[in-house]
Amino acid sequence: MKKSTATVIFTSLMMATSGAVIADGAATYQKACVACHMTGAAGAPKLEDKAAWAPRIAQGKDVLYNSVLNGKGAMPPKAGQAQLSDDEIKAAVDYIVSQAK
Ligand code: HEC
Repeated sequence: MKKSTATVIFTSLMMATSGAVIADGAATYQKACVACHMTGAAGAPKLEDKAAWAPRIAQGKDVLYNSVLNGKGAMPPKAGQAQLSDDEIKAAVDYIVSQAK
């Protein structure tokens, strides 16, 4: 009995956590990425431009993570937001990939 209650609590905690990660990706995108990726500023691929994203997504997520963490072309390292953790950056990349596919 005790054990199953703990399992339920653990499971709902895990679900709450993974839900938060998805929300964080969207929130981080809105804060840190939207300025360029919404408008195409500085030559950034627009979020809804699936044709522009397809070859980038095909490189694999690790390449995309590295591009944002270390910078690529006109995009500065961590999109210029050094206070963001690597996980926040990765969640924002995951969000972009989920929207652009
Ligand atoms: C200052 C403008 C700017 C901001 C802010 C910005 N980006 Fe970018 N991003 C770019 C540009 C420009 C490119 C294209 C770089 C190239 O291919 O030369 C790009 C490319 C990318 C790519 C593709 C990388 C690849 O390897 O093809 C990803 C993924 C990406 N951005 C994610 C993000 C995320 C996530 C954020 C927010 C945390 C963000 N960007 C914020 C300008 C920006």
